[in-house]
Amino acid sequence: MSNKVLNGKELAVSIKNELKQKISCLDKKPNLAVIMVGNNPASDVYVKNKEKSCLEVGISTSTYKLPEQTSKEELLNLIEKLNTSNDVNGILVQLPLPAHLNTDEILNTISPLKDVDGFHPLNTGLMIKKQKAFTPCTPKGIIKLLHTIKKDLTGLNAVVVGRSQIVGLPIAHLLINENCTVTVTHSKTKNLASICKNADILIAAIGRAEFITKEFIKENAIIIDVGINRTKDGLKGDVKFSDALDICSYITPVPGGVGPMTIAMLLENTYDAFLNQNNS
Ligand code: GUN
Repeated sequence: MSNKVLNGKELAVSIKNELKQKISCLDKKPNLAVIMVGNNPASDVYVKNKEKSCLEVGISTSTYKLPEQTSKEELLNLIEKLNTSNDVNGILVQLPLPAHLNTDEILNTISPLKDVDGFHPLNTGLMIKKQKAFTPCTPKGIIKLLHTIKKDLTGLNAVVVGRSQIVGLPIAHLLINENCTVTVTHSKTKNLASICKNADILIAAIGRAEFITKEFIKENAIIIDVGINRTKDGLKGDVKFSDALDICSYITPVPGGVGPMTIAMLLENTYDAFLNQNNS
């Protein structure tokens, strides 16, 4: 593999090994509760990967697979039960939820102390204010990957393409906290390619296969590809990898870049939730 390719899988394995070691010293295993509502094939794959990784490091999981037509009340009752259970340290509601359920209304009921996805508004606020908080897993993993290249990101121009609650918005805040100059772009942005062409760090989180081509990329940019797009030609990122590789200084591959880091950060957050709840 080219030495420009940032190996997220390798870093995730070393983080997982470290966690496994720490968890093996605990009297009790941390536990993660995962809730899935309805049938979404992509969510099935993500949740299976999360369960497998938990098992590898010694975190127990309890998965609740609820039918598509689950009511708001039924889901809120389950979350309340998990919020108050001493056996549960982390709660994750896999997204997307079916259309009849209001995502924010549901996520806002998860105890901020068990919010290992970092999606509760209290954790969002604490993160923005640089206080101790659960940070969303993908953005947290991206910062760890960036730090393997450069410890100090001060003054770099970062352009984020995409403004989702899960990736775009939180990564923008984390990059501001790293003293980057951050531009957030989205589907309504004018002259997108020329804005991206200014980016020392380009975060592609759009969800469109190979959308970022060579016209978007500055010489020696660091490119973080968050896309996981299933196409007839297989799994593709948001960046046209062959275009980018020639121009960039570093790039995350798809698969094997950001994805494994997201899961590693979920494990880290669950371990931290366990420690917080056990006053360790
Ligand atoms: N769906 C896609 N990404 C995520 C994630 O990071 N967390 C949850 N809960 N659902 C997702």
